[in-house]
Amino acid sequence: MAQSVDVAIVGAGPGGYVAAIRAAQLGMKVAVVEEGRVGGVCLNVGCIPTKALLRSAEVVSLVRRAGDFGISFDNLRIDFGAAVTRSRQIVSRLVKGVEYLFKKNKITLIPGRGRLTGPGRLEVDGPQGREGVQARVIILATGSRPKTLPGLAFDSRRVISSTEALELKEVPRTLAIIGAGAVGMEFADVFAAYGAQVTLIEMLPSVLPVEDPEAAAVVAKAFTARGMTLLTSARVDGLTPEAQGVRLTATVQGQPREVEAEVVLVAVGRAPNVEGLGLEALGVAQERGFIKVGRDLQSSVPGIYAIGDLVGPPMLAHKAMAEGVAAAEAIAGVEGPGVNYSAIANVTYCRPEVASLGLTEGQARERGHEVRVGKFPLQASGRALTLGEPEGLVKVVADAASGELIGVHIVGHGASDLIAEAALARTLEATPEEIARTVHPHPTLPEALFEACLAALGRALHS
Ligand code: NAI
Repeated sequence: MAQSVDVAIVGAGPGGYVAAIRAAQLGMKVAVVEEGRVGGVCLNVGCIPTKALLRSAEVVSLVRRAGDFGISFDNLRIDFGAAVTRSRQIVSRLVKGVEYLFKKNKITLIPGRGRLTGPGRLEVDGPQGREGVQARVIILATGSRPKTLPGLAFDSRRVISSTEALELKEVPRTLAIIGAGAVGMEFADVFAAYGAQVTLIEMLPSVLPVEDPEAAAVVAKAFTARGMTLLTSARVDGLTPEAQGVRLTATVQGQPREVEAEVVLVAVGRAPNVEGLGLEALGVAQERGFIKVGRDLQSSVPGIYAIGDLVGPPMLAHKAMAEGVAAAEAIAGVEGPGVNYSAIANVTYCRPEVASLGLTEGQARERGHEVRVGKFPLQASGRALTLGEPEGLVKVVADAASGELIGVHIVGHGASDLIAEAALARTLEATPEEIARTVHPHPTLPEALFEACLAALGRALHS
């Protein structure tokens, strides 16, 4: 007997499980099909365990410079295995949390792999065999997986993805990371803090190439000062297995170069999990591999919705969650605001952190905006100095004619938290003038955004 529900969701990552909770809140009977653990990549092998390891790496770096704070000690021992165990414990706790939320909201979890077999029909291959699910509406939320490079297939030992990097029991002596996007930069930070000799190989002319060049330059300088090798405008041409790892041949700024490494981490982006879902048979339209959806997140086939990494960039957990809410509200006929894509922040949690939203200064000028730019260096922030974290800056980009805030770029300690004020400002369409009129507590890091807005208005107080 097929189960019958209002909404069936395939995938229990941040997009799928949030869509399920919102749909249940709106009175719908909801089932979620998931072949792994609830929480998806983000919770199990992505955002959460990496943030736990990054925090350990931050503590390692803090204890190494404890002398700056007047603290000294002998016999420092650093245990990478314990950091990994801690990250797994946090993951387990949060997975249990999502399971509890399913129960609380009376959401049925169907273990197994789901496939569309017709409008409103799914087939699930699970541990107990095959079962059918009937639903008024289906939401696809199957996420994405790491992309590979030709000639560099993952072998879970020497050539690995972020998933295996989270399971390494020991720190490799040498680590080559291909791709200096969010994943590459975060793992570089972790393993360098634990003593690996890290080489980053990035195809484009700068690390974090999507970020404002000034912000990316601050991180590049910090990583170089910590002994990492950054190879930009670099292409990997081949890989030769060796007794103790691999030898990569590369072309770096037009010159041949060899990089030896015990382990190679490939972090060149992610590909959507569209295969085996039965999309073709039902005629669900795709574009460049992603499922094509309208503003309401409905695909070309009425009654089939798609959210998160499946529908394209930015491939971020918080974007997937926002789309999960918007899809559930559209299905319930609730007049919602939809997703405000211009207020979605990009965050890279390396040290110093980088967070941004909207347009970079260069992008704004290319699009014909006459811009007003305001900057505030953290070196001038009392709070940053008391924290011992003076590296970085806040930069705001405003449209000179309308006064609209069109970009915010933050690099430095706490950037991942500081960007939330900018996201709120964008959502409320607040201008730099309004942020500058908001009294910010002193001394705090958010004053840096306030000061950058003042600078854009030509009235900087502290720089
Ligand atoms: P990404 O697209 O952010 O970065 C990939 C990098 O690899 C780019 O800089 C690209 O220029 C470079 N690249 C591509 N092909 C290359 C090649 N053949 N050789 C050398 N470099 C090459 O992808 P990433 O870092 O793998 O992350 C995947 C997704 O997950 C992204 O959408 C990212 O935003 C998201 N993510 C977000 C995080 C966060 O918010 N903190 C953390 C981790 C991932």
